[in-house]
Amino acid sequence: MAQVLVIGSGGREQALAWKLVQSPSVDKVYVAPGNGGSKGSIENVAIAFDDTNGLLKFAQDNSIALTVVGQEAASEAGVVDAFKTAGLTIFGPTKAAVKIESSKAFSKDLMAAQNIPTAEYKNFSDAEAARAYAKSRPLPIVIKADGLATGKGVIIAASETEIDAAIDEIMVRKAFGAAGNRVVVEDFLKGREASLHALTDGQTSVIFPPSQDHKQIFDGDQGPNTGGMGVIAPVTWVSDEQLAYIKDKVVQPALGGLRKQGATFTGCLYPGLMIDGDEVKVLEFNARFGDPEAEVYMRLLDGDLYEIFKACAEGNLDPASVKWQPGFAVTVVLASGGYPGDYKKGLPISGIETAEKSDDVVVFHAGTAIKDGQLVTAGGRVLNVTATGASLEEALDKAYSAAKLINFDRVHYRTDIGRRPAA
Ligand code: AMP
Ligand code: GLY
Repeated sequence: MAQVLVIGSGGREQALAWKLVQSPSVDKVYVAPGNGGSKGSIENVAIAFDDTNGLLKFAQDNSIALTVVGQEAASEAGVVDAFKTAGLTIFGPTKAAVKIESSKAFSKDLMAAQNIPTAEYKNFSDAEAARAYAKSRPLPIVIKADGLATGKGVIIAASETEIDAAIDEIMVRKAFGAAGNRVVVEDFLKGREASLHALTDGQTSVIFPPSQDHKQIFDGDQGPNTGGMGVIAPVTWVSDEQLAYIKDKVVQPALGGLRKQGATFTGCLYPGLMIDGDEVKVLEFNARFGDPEAEVYMRLLDGDLYEIFKACAEGNLDPASVKWQPGFAVTVVLASGGYPGDYKKGLPISGIETAEKSDDVVVFHAGTAIKDGQLVTAGGRVLNVTATGASLEEALDKAYSAAKLINFDRVHYRTDIGRRPAA
C-alpha cells in the first residue's frame, strides 16, 4: 500500500487528501503542514510548504510513493526540482514551469508567442513608459504587478488619475515589493469569468468541467476580492464547442510553448477565462488547482486520483481515467468576520459533525487548528461546506442547510453562491 504526501495547508489540500485516501492503493496521506481537519488516515506533518530539505527527507525516510504539490509556492521554492533530482515521484510544476503563474509578463509573452487568445497588452519595467501606454489605450485599463501579489496586484483604472495612482502604488511605492518591478498593462475585457482546470503530464491533457468562483466577499459581487467565497460546477453556459476550443487553443498551446522552452509542465494548469458570448479570452494562468475549485472537483471526480496524479508525474496520463459523476457540486466558504481585512483567530467552532450528517455534505477544513483539544478558527477562510445534487439548486440547498448548522463567533458567508442572475 502506498503512502502519499500532500504539500499545503488549505481546503484544497484537505480535499485532495480526502480523494487520494479513497484510492484502493493508498493507506495513508500525510499533509505538510495541513490544518485542523486531518484525521484518521490523513495525518499532518509539521513541515513548512517551502522547506525543501525537510520535505525531501520526510519523503525519503517514509518511502513516500507520490508527493502532490497543492500550493504553487512550493514549486516556486524549488521543491519539485529537488524531488525530481532525487528520483522521487512528484505531481506539480518545476520552478521553470510555474513561471506561467508567477510572472504575468512571462505568461502574456507565452500567450502572444503561442497565439493564445488574450487581451492586448504590453510589459513595462519603466513607470513613465507604462503610464504613457496606459493613457493611450481605451478606459478602463488593467494594470497588473508582474509577480505574485496574493491576488491583490491587479488594478482596474477608470481614469488617468487612477492610472497614475496604480503605477505609483505598484512601481514607485512598491506596495507588492519586487512583484512590482515590472507591470503588464492590458485592455479591459468584459464578459463572465469561468475557471478551467486541466490535468497534464506535459504532453497529454484532460480538461475538467468548467466551474465558477465568487471572488468578492459580499453578496452581489460587492466588496473586496478574496481567495474565493464559493464555487459551482459544472457551469452550463460554457458550451462543448467552447471547451474543445479551450483545449485546442489555450491549454495545448500553453503546454507546447513551455515544452519549447525546456520547461515541461506537469500538474494542474488552471486558466482563468473571460467569456463574452462566443469569445473566449485568457485572463491568467494558474499552475495549481484553484481553492475552493479543488473542493468541488474532488466531490465530482469519479476515478482513482492516486493513479491519475501518478500517471501525470510519470508522463503517461490516460484521459479516459478521468471520469465525472453526473450532477452538480458546490462549496460555500465560511469565513472569519472581517476577512479579507483583519479578523480574530482562535474562536471555537461547533456543528461540523451535525452538518456532515446531512446527505451528500462534506466539510473541508481550511483555516482551522486544534488548540487544547478544541477545534478553533486559524485563518480567513475557515471551512468549505460542499454538497452534491442532481441539480444545482439541490446542491446549493443542501450546502446552505448544512452551513446553518455550523457556528463560530462572527462567521460570514455569501448567501448568493450559484444564484447570480443570468447575464
Ligand atoms: P488575474 O489575477 O490576472 O486573474 O486578475 C484578477 C481578477 O481581475 C480577474 O479574476 C478579473 O476579475 C480581473 N481582471 C484581470 N484582468 C482583466 C481584464 N483584462 N479585464 C477585465 N478584468 C480583468
Ligand atoms: N479560487 C481562485 C484561485 O484559487 O485562484
